[in-house]
Amino acid sequence: MTDPYLSITTGQIRSLEEQYLFSTYKRSDLVVSHGSGAHVYDLDGRRYLDMLAGIAVNSLGYNHRRVVRVLMEQGQRMIHCSNLFYHPYQGLLAQRLADLAGMSKVFFTNSGTEAMEAALKIARAYPRSRGKADQPLILALKNSFHGRTFGALSITAQEKYQAPFRPLVPDVLIIEEFTVQALQRAFNERVCALVVEPIQGEAGVVLIPREFLRAARELCDRFDALLIFDEIQCGMGRTGKYFAFQHHEVQPDLMTLAKSLAAGYPLGAVLGNARVGQSLKPGEHGTTFGGGPLACRLALEVLDVIEEEGLLRRVEELGGYLLEGLRRLGGQHPSMKEIRGLGLIVGVELGSVAKDVVQRLLKRGIIANAAHETVLRLLPPFVISREDVDEFLKTLDEVLSEVEAEKKQ
Ligand SMILES: Cc1ncc(COP(=O)(O)O)c(C=O)c1O
Repeated sequence: MTDPYLSITTGQIRSLEEQYLFSTYKRSDLVVSHGSGAHVYDLDGRRYLDMLAGIAVNSLGYNHRRVVRVLMEQGQRMIHCSNLFYHPYQGLLAQRLADLAGMSKVFFTNSGTEAMEAALKIARAYPRSRGKADQPLILALKNSFHGRTFGALSITAQEKYQAPFRPLVPDVLIIEEFTVQALQRAFNERVCALVVEPIQGEAGVVLIPREFLRAARELCDRFDALLIFDEIQCGMGRTGKYFAFQHHEVQPDLMTLAKSLAAGYPLGAVLGNARVGQSLKPGEHGTTFGGGPLACRLALEVLDVIEEEGLLRRVEELGGYLLEGLRRLGGQHPSMKEIRGLGLIVGVELGSVAKDVVQRLLKRGIIANAAHETVLRLLPPFVISREDVDEFLKTLDEVLSEVEAEKKQ
């Protein structure tokens, strides 16, 4: 069946959005019509290689046969019921995620930000549940990104996001350096939680050092505070393990997930260990949509596909192939100042040309983005092929040669 709304043109779409939407997004000109595997297509049928996967959401690529089948079947059965009743999938999914992460309890949300809000409420509820009245302080890291609502924004230590909305939630302290000494200085009896993205995505793919994560665990134990890992961008297989913290053997007390959890259908989660399992009492937190049957059924399928299609191994292999190719290019291009990554979350420090490079890649049919202004960020779908990676590297090589030649002139 053809969709009558799809007769709209690119120009009409743009002018409608300009007129009727709050101008919160600076969009590129591309109108995405549909996708297949690692590619998307515009309204004129032009194909683009998606090296960003909808910002780490479309990890299984577009139009995955099994995802589409579950969407149709469960859509016909039931999209929503309400959290007043049970449905078959929420408990099954919670068990599956808890087992994979070494956790005990799960609360489902609709987004990453809401998962962070739930984590922050648990962090405040935890000391109270243990009879401690004065332990409100939350620690977070410089350049972090945890979301846009007031709680999540208050621990998102980036001036451009926070400045217009002050005053923010009080009792937050930002750690400015990722050193053990800086961590030690920040901790005291008032700290209830430390929040860390093991790989900072929006900051431009910054890998937090292992010794920092290990010291964080020790200090949280010493001060009876909670270690919260935000794995919304780096979790769910993106690093080649289910969760980034599993590369370091540092177990958090709480972990947040979202993005690719339900293959593009909105779903977030906060997972907690036995220590925090009794912190929230009935009625203290809730959501209308979070943990609905369609989202949970899709997330179960995502986990099945990752397992049955051996995608973690694929991420490790292709991530290694991509990083190796980038390092080879790095030897030829002075604009590539640093290459960082693990699995299929990769950043290339390009300085002031990053945004220009992203635009030129798009013109040549490749989607990527510039994180933190200066970093080319790559978050391709796990189903990407070696040939796709080769195509990307070849195009990046051409674009960088062009940019560097123009700079010299
Ligand atoms: C690490 C991290 N935390 C939180 C969020 C917020 O998630 P959402 O946009 O689903 O609310 C994001 C989104 O980019 C993220 O990357």
